[in-house]
Amino acid sequence: MPSAFSAFEADNPVNGYSSLIHPIQAGSLRVSGNIFLAPVAGYSDRAFRRLCREAGAYLTFTEMVSLEALARGSEGSLSLLKAAEGERPRAVQVFAGSPQVIEPAWKMIRRRTEELVEDFDLVDLNCGCPVPKVVKSGAGAALMQDPDRLSEIVAALSESTDKPVSVKLRSGWDEGSITYLEAAKAAVRSGAQMITLHPRTRKQGYSGAADWSLIRRLKDESEVPVIGSGDVTDPDSARRLLTETGCDGIMIARGAFGDPLLFQRIRDTLDPSPDTKSGQGAAGEAGTSGESRADPAIEGYPASRLSIALKHIDLAVFYLGKERAGKELKKHLAAYVKGIPGAAAFRDRLVRAAGPEEYRLILHEILAHASEIPSPPPGRVD
Ligand SMILES: Cc1cc2nc3c(=O)[nH]c(=O)nc-3n(C[C@H](O)[C@H](O)[C@H](O)COP(=O)(O)O)c2cc1C
Repeated sequence: MPSAFSAFEADNPVNGYSSLIHPIQAGSLRVSGNIFLAPVAGYSDRAFRRLCREAGAYLTFTEMVSLEALARGSEGSLSLLKAAEGERPRAVQVFAGSPQVIEPAWKMIRRRTEELVEDFDLVDLNCGCPVPKVVKSGAGAALMQDPDRLSEIVAALSESTDKPVSVKLRSGWDEGSITYLEAAKAAVRSGAQMITLHPRTRKQGYSGAADWSLIRRLKDESEVPVIGSGDVTDPDSARRLLTETGCDGIMIARGAFGDPLLFQRIRDTLDPSPDTKSGQGAAGEAGTSGESRADPAIEGYPASRLSIALKHIDLAVFYLGKERAGKELKKHLAAYVKGIPGAAAFRDRLVRAAGPEEYRLILHEILAHASEIPSPPPGRVD
């Protein structure tokens, strides 16, 4: 179906491309499209990344992983770095408060999991995490206040790996300290090949609106690709972030919670040409039957979303085992049922449910009634 915006896009090429969906070059890494799944602590594990990938995300990021914990040989941190089936290219995100932990961290990774060393395509440095424990260690958003240290860490990371290095910034510490331009320059000077900006300060956390004008400003000044992050929830906001800021690509975090098919809708709306339709790649064998697009036998909303939720349960059990999956899935499942009539009651039942088997029963019960639930207008899921 042609997009309502295709005439606009054809007449207004962005960054020299005739479509809003186009490849991105970050150093030696070429990614075939510019819609990414963001790093999201507690959410972007292998199961969720694989679903988003299969729905159309061109690049996926692990959640932030502590280099200091990796250097200590933490099994939990090592497992966060692992790839899902078919997840290439992919990025790992790390955080560190000093360059000294980088070498021991790589050594430990090499010793423990030789294959992991080659098993990713980009290393991203977190410079935005607002959590006090992380900031106190000099990592995350603390780096927004210290461009010299940021620069040293990026330089050490770049030297330690032949993969391209990128950074993910906030706008600054607070309204009195807006430092993203300085931080971006420091990072690029030391070898960063791509910059993501989430234009909120550390003080803002995730509240208020992301200030996209800062992404525009950074794009105007940057020599490397700029990825915009913040408040993309549907194809229209994806289109606006790309066109209003001129950024090279976008990253989605909260908008994909309970809705990996958002990637498919964005791709199909922004680039309606048949040869670039989403859902073509990354289907693997393990854990599910492979394809994770909506079952064509189940039409409409929320049925397609709920069928993905059922696959999410299978994948989480496959990657994490029943017990851990039971814990990790609750927040995801609450997001999948958001917006459906009676969501609060279903959420309550999911929260109290014993584990994956019971989750499945509850979702099947909702699906049995799904045909009675009206579809939302195109482009809206909530
Ligand atoms: C629960 C949660 C966890 C997050 N974890 C990370 C993280 O590990 N690394 C990171 O760079 N950003 C993290 N972020 C920030 C997101 O990647 C993203 O920049 C931000 O949420 C704005 O995008 P959105 O409006 O699409 O959610 C997190 C955000 C949320 C809500």
